Amino acid sequence: MINANPFSVLAETISPLAMQGFIIAMIILIAAGTIIQMISHKNLIYFFNNAKKAKLNAKKELGVGEKASIVAKTTVYDIGTTSELGFGKRRLAHVLGMYGTILFWVSSVVLIFSYTGVNSPSADIWSILWHGGAILTCIGGYWFWFFLRVDVSAEAHPWYRIIKADLFVLALLACSTFGLLWSYTQFNGQMVLSYLFLTLFILSNLILFGGVYWSKFAHMFYKPGAAIQKNLAEADGSRDNLPPPADAPEQFGLGIKREEPKHY
Ligand code: HEM
Repeated sequence: MINANPFSVLAETISPLAMQGFIIAMIILIAAGTIIQMISHKNLIYFFNNAKKAKLNAKKELGVGEKASIVAKTTVYDIGTTSELGFGKRRLAHVLGMYGTILFWVSSVVLIFSYTGVNSPSADIWSILWHGGAILTCIGGYWFWFFLRVDVSAEAHPWYRIIKADLFVLALLACSTFGLLWSYTQFNGQMVLSYLFLTLFILSNLILFGGVYWSKFAHMFYKPGAAIQKNLAEADGSRDNLPPPADAPEQFGLGIKREEPKHY
């Protein structure tokens, strides 16, 4: 099943053009949701004003090479491994979900645009990546949902308590879960169940991409921007308008590291 392309079988009932149109519509929804969110939350204006103010406090002018090297290092390390989550389960779960989702989306686009339709070649590798991406997203996402969320791990709320901020993670999990169930039932010829899961798969995609304005979806664009700005500000000495570090050595005792933070 893992090397079967479910979109290819679906092409017997739904035209590949309609599937391609669906993907383009989802990309338009992401762009529209993010732009409207940026305008209404004014976060881009804040970001640029802050960067302009920090530039005035810069101690040195960074050359193009230096800037490029900082951007490259930030992309590979800070963004590529979500370093702000520290070392531990939270970061591992996020990395699994992040790369799983990227694999799932990229392989969906490749499968639908290049391997779906009459006489299309077989796409074993891309189908494996599609299923693998969905499985990784489920592992990282359910781990986060059931055990790592601050609401559950620190505030002792039950895992089934849902708030608006959970829209993103739940829609993401619904997409991967229903995608896998659709592929499984289709492969086993359970046609009624397969169409049920296909409908749920489509609905969860509409919620995930149509809900960008209300959800945490856009953090995948804001977070990398903020990480790059932070590292540039550290290198040019502006330190994001924060005061300079004290001369004294940083010896503050264990402080909050004395015990796990469980008192939010
Ligand atoms: C395809 C890309 C990404 C996906 C699918 C993804 C997915 C997620 C999910 C599902 C959550 C949990 C949201 C919640 O609190 O309900 C999350 C949180 C978070 N993400 Fe991402 N993310 C992506 C990219 C990034 C990037 C590039 C960064 C940073 C550079 C980042 C940093 C974070 C942080 C700091 C949190 C909060 C984690 C926590 O509360 O434990 N994410 N992300």
